[in-house]
Formats: sequence, C-alpha cells, structure tokens
Amino acid sequence: MNKCLYPVIAICFMLGCSTSQQPPGLLAEQPALHALQDQALRDLMDRMSGLMLERFMTEHEMDIERRKYARQIIDAANTLQTSADALSKRAAALGMTAEEQNAFLVMTHKLEHQATLLKMQAENNRFNAISGTLHEMKSTCMACHTLFRKI
Ligand code: HEC
Repeated sequence: MNKCLYPVIAICFMLGCSTSQQPPGLLAEQPALHALQDQALRDLMDRMSGLMLERFMTEHEMDIERRKYARQIIDAANTLQTSADALSKRAAALGMTAEEQNAFLVMTHKLEHQATLLKMQAENNRFNAISGTLHEMKSTCMACHTLFRKI
C-alpha cells in the first residue's frame, strides 16, 4: 500500500517546484489542505490494513479498533470535502479560460463525490471498498495536477 504513495509524493515535489514560479495571489499562499487530509486517510488505511494482520487480537478487540479507525476516516473525509469545496470556489480566481474552469470544477466535484463515498463506506464498515475508493481518488488527484499544476 505504501508504494501507492510514491506517485503522489512525486507530484507534490513537482508542484512544489512549479508553485515557486507562480505569480503571487494564486493558490500558492495557502497550503493544500486537501493534500494533507488525503495523506491522513492513507495513513489510516495503512494502520487498518496492519490490523487485519494482527494475530494476537481477538475478533472483538479488532472490531473495536476498526470502528475507531472508521471514525477517523469519516472525520478526514469530511475535511477533504470542505477542502475540495474551497478548491472549487477558488477556480474563478485562477485566471483560467471558461473551458479550463469547467474541467477544474468537474474534478473538484469528483473529489467531493469520492470523499462522500469514503464516508459512507466507513460508516457502513465496508472496509474492503475503501481502498478501491482511495485508488480512484488518487486518479482524480493526478488528473487535475497533470492539467493544472502549471497554473
Ligand atoms: C481540481 C484540481 C485538483 C485536485 C482534484 C487535487 N488537487 Fe492538489 N492541487 C491543485 C492545485 C491547483 C494545486 C496548486 C496549489 C498551489 O500552487 O498552492 C495543488 C497542490 C497540491 C499539493 C502541493 C501542496 C503545497 O502546498 O505545495 C499537493 C501535495 C497536492 N495538491 C496533493 C493532492 C492530492 C493528494 C489530491 C487528491 C486527494 C489532490 N491534490 C487533488 C489542484 C488539485
């Protein structure tokens, strides 16, 4: 699972480089909260996967731990939703063409949708589905960065 992080880290690195070339007043003055939250989700998923391998816990103990992680995933997904919403509100300030703005908004909405899905899956203890959703979410991150990290 840790391997999945490498492309994201690579993207962060590239973004870090490109942000320094940005004119002031764009997104650069704000840390990308959506990215921090996503990292938190991935860390949680890793811990959750670790739990599945834990041999010395009883089924009951494992269940308690899973519920605790589910709670944290829900919180992180909530913040991710807020961040995606904030990202979409900034679209107009980024000096994009109407067409670019549309593409940008489609992707912020996709991110919001995926955060909602994650929340529902955690609420219903559908832990196996969560890693699939995180995988799709990563594609959304990459799709947007591929198109827009130059702005
Ligand atoms: C709708 C477009 C879009 C989506 C979707 C998106 N990002 Fe971003 N992201 C951006 C933009 C634009 C920036 C540049 C912000 C800046 O320059 O300050 C950025 C910046 C970042 C940064 C750099 C932060 C910094 O302060 O240097 C990271 C890391 C990052 N995103 C990770 C992610 C991850 C992980 C996801 C998926 C959960 C994601 N992004 C989804 C548009 C997006």
